[in-house]
Amino acid sequence: MEYAIKCVGVLTSGGDSPAMNAAIRAVVRAGISNGICVKGIYRGYSGLIDGEIRELSSQDVSGIIQRGGTILKSSRCPAFQTPEGRKQAYDNMQKEGIDALIVIGGDGTFTGARVFSQEYNIPVIGLPGTIDNDLWGTDVTIGYDTSLNTIMECVDKLRDTATSHERVFLVEIMGRDAGFLTLNAAIAVGAEVAIIPERTAVAEQIEEAIGQGKRKSKNSSIVLVQEHAVEGGAQTVAKILEKAHPEYNTRVTILGHLQRGGSPTAQDRILASRLGVAAIQALLEEQRSIMIGVQNDEIVYVPLSKAISTKKDIKADKWTAMQILSI
Ligand code: F6P
Repeated sequence: MEYAIKCVGVLTSGGDSPAMNAAIRAVVRAGISNGICVKGIYRGYSGLIDGEIRELSSQDVSGIIQRGGTILKSSRCPAFQTPEGRKQAYDNMQKEGIDALIVIGGDGTFTGARVFSQEYNIPVIGLPGTIDNDLWGTDVTIGYDTSLNTIMECVDKLRDTATSHERVFLVEIMGRDAGFLTLNAAIAVGAEVAIIPERTAVAEQIEEAIGQGKRKSKNSSIVLVQEHAVEGGAQTVAKILEKAHPEYNTRVTILGHLQRGGSPTAQDRILASRLGVAAIQALLEEQRSIMIGVQNDEIVYVPLSKAISTKKDIKADKWTAMQILSI
């Protein structure tokens, strides 16, 4: 059977996330199974502009499902935000015979993909790959579960020393504008306080962290601070705390890019594999400009425009649970 699409380009862009490799593997193997050639584009949109492109065989993606990072490398590419950059990218696609793109990344990646798709009438499928879990239309994103588990392991270790030394640990968590990692990690580690951007009463949250004697029964605390919930992050919260309570023995830990690495969890590998296969399927169904997500364990197609423009909110019951369980 003849398919309109004969060759697909795949790239990873923006902040990397665990199981991006599993997604690449799935795209390559699902493509080959359907008689479609898959070309890897290196360093995200930069590789599309610079022509760093090569065909990937089934063997090229062998032994990568368990590896963190991305074999295709990643970058943030300001040049792709310009019409000249996108023209160069389009010319390279033509030269390579690439009919459609599968882009794995977050909302910056999807924003570029959408503009490109409209400008040149190219089918583009987005796979949600970010530890932040901040894309609307999918319950989870590729890499989020692994990152959450990494945070949990790290904070469990901090809890040991916090308890021994009777200290308050302020732990800074990534997430860009979203508090999913912070709130969910807070529940998982039994943190005393979570400070997240979605709950705008940051002053109150800090007040809570200060304690007002609330934690008299505890000699140590774990406060998770989303990196952008307060300007200056965990360091700022520590200063406020120290000023209000000089008697507190505080320490700051910034988990940083540790949260982006590591071998993906089973959940992330399975998610990435399903989404990669579904991306090829969607192209065969002549879909264009959509994100493939998962809702209630079912694969869904979400317009890229909606995935980018709609704000995904945290679950109210999780926030409540966090408050109740931290007493
Ligand atoms: O979007 C993923 C993410 O790790 C965010 O959580 C964080 O704010 C940002 O990327 C860090 O970006 P960079 O790796 O460019 O420092």
